[in-house]
Amino acid sequence: RLRGITVHPFGARIPVEPGERLLDAILRAGRYVPFGCNHGGCGTCVATVVSGDVEQDPATLTTLDARSREEGRVLLCSSQLRSSDAEVDVGDTGIVESEFAGAGSVDTTTTVTDVLRPAAGLFLLRLRPPESWAPRPGQFVQLALPGGDAWRSYSVASRAESSTVDLVIRRVEGGVFNTALDGLRPGDDVRVRGPFGAFTVRTSHRAKLFVGGGAGIGPLRPMILQTLERGDDAPVHLVHTGRDESDLAFREEFIALAEKFDHFTYDPLVTVGVTPGVRGADLAADAVDQHHSARTLRRSEAYLCGPDAFVDRLADHLITNGLRDRYLAADRFTASS
Ligand code: FES
Repeated sequence: RLRGITVHPFGARIPVEPGERLLDAILRAGRYVPFGCNHGGCGTCVATVVSGDVEQDPATLTTLDARSREEGRVLLCSSQLRSSDAEVDVGDTGIVESEFAGAGSVDTTTTVTDVLRPAAGLFLLRLRPPESWAPRPGQFVQLALPGGDAWRSYSVASRAESSTVDLVIRRVEGGVFNTALDGLRPGDDVRVRGPFGAFTVRTSHRAKLFVGGGAGIGPLRPMILQTLERGDDAPVHLVHTGRDESDLAFREEFIALAEKFDHFTYDPLVTVGVTPGVRGADLAADAVDQHHSARTLRRSEAYLCGPDAFVDRLADHLITNGLRDRYLAADRFTASS
């Protein structure tokens, strides 16, 4: 019997290679569990060890509080199997079994078709779609560091039926990944796996509010396109913040969409030239207040994407002002290189 883990509540047994992180083993097996940063920083991939010996990378221990650790919680993205068998429970993560089964997810090598700079702080990496590629708007993929086996998560900014897979990537000067990506040229091969994630748009007729901070516009773009194309006329409002206009990716496209669809409102906001200390999240919160009353927020659903602090600030603001928390969906990124 091969070394491996059994993942509850689904009961699937998954082989684990020596030295392999548990999340990698699960994804390699074509399965899906919720995860985010992939390097022990966000806590999304938490699971409880039911039996066996699983060791958490000491560098990431502080992400979980002492009580969680005592209760046997680990982060799947940064832990390894020490015994030959273990059982872990991903608990009530709200995922459905078809998501866990990784329906439609691939782990493959594909080709770079273009490397664009849609905004000052961003790359747009265009890839040839892998075979049987079918992301839902809002999902993300992982890219392997060229020449290595470290993975990073990136939002898919294109639609499933698009002739390219467009990944929005924040530039982190001097970062390991940034340097590797800087060297990519059309025709190069890269390894991708995915799509993953449950940050997707609901098919309800509620008004929709999308708020993106910087590169957070990535997953929101296909969600907005899908919503507008569905032909429903419930109001759709997009608030996007950046440092300056060159930071606002897809700005021209959203301006054109706002002209075409009466029920779509686009608020591009920049922090340059604003009173020092006022952050993008504050501007976004003001824009929401100008546009929505407690009554309209109570009837809306909201999708937030951006850095941790941005998403936290907006989520608090929206809930305090009337949005029901079950109609709030958020996708956040932590700084990584
Ligand atoms: Fe594991 Fe972020 S802590 S995905």
